[in-house]
Amino acid sequence: MPHYDPELPIPEHVAIIMDGNGRWAKGRGKIRNEGHREGAKSVEAVLEAAKAIGIRHLTLYAFSSENWKRPEDEVSGLMGLLSHFLKLKTPTLIKNDIRLKAIGAIDRLPPASRKQLDKSIADTAHCESLTCHIALSYGSREEIVRATQTLMQRAADGEMTPEELSVENFGDYLYTSEAPDPDLLVRTSGEFRISNFLLWQISYSEIHITDVLWPDFRHENLELAVADYQKRHRRYGGL
Ligand code: IPE
Ligand code: IPE
Ligand code: MG
Repeated sequence: MPHYDPELPIPEHVAIIMDGNGRWAKGRGKIRNEGHREGAKSVEAVLEAAKAIGIRHLTLYAFSSENWKRPEDEVSGLMGLLSHFLKLKTPTLIKNDIRLKAIGAIDRLPPASRKQLDKSIADTAHCESLTCHIALSYGSREEIVRATQTLMQRAADGEMTPEELSVENFGDYLYTSEAPDPDLLVRTSGEFRISNFLLWQISYSEIHITDVLWPDFRHENLELAVADYQKRHRRYGGL
């Protein structure tokens, strides 16, 4: 028996702030990068779970624009893990009909990681059961500024007037233009903050915060998050 009710609405888009890898490792006397390695197994489990539940879009916050500030060995460990994981798991993504996309300033990634990422994105382009949007070197403020720069340039070039910009079309200029706004935002490791993630897009997302550390977050935990979502009454400011 699943923890959620398959008869009730399933969130179309779930976004996850995958936090707590460092604390997981520390609690076991391991180095932080071992926490990231274990966290990669949770990514794999959650992708399968999301597909089984019927979620159509999953956005995973894997590396923020602020995470570049971390020590060099942790950053290079994470970038190496990304390439390794994608190379190893892309055949599984294809088998499971899961499409990979990336959001963020991916031009900042090291060339090897970027190359593997581009390859995995191309190799899964035909998959359609679930789209996994991986956020890499992602920062929401940076995303909003970049969109604004594009819009200002369009106005300066006479391609658009200021009045043509609206709440409805601003999202077209964000990295996330191809996905609906998240219905459910999950943060692991018990931190009650957004950390520069999808500031525009989560205006009306339901929020589920769990104390579970990301490396311990598996199939059942995603079902519990969906069950929590199913208890909410979304009003969007109405009655
Ligand atoms: C999340 O875990 C992974 C990344 C941000 C890359 P952390 O590395 O932030 O783990 P904690 O928060 O230190 O436990
Ligand atoms: C948010 O976690 C970023 C990712 C999960 C990739 P952080 O650990 O970087 O965020 P803070 O420092 O707790 O705000
Ligand atoms: Mg953290």
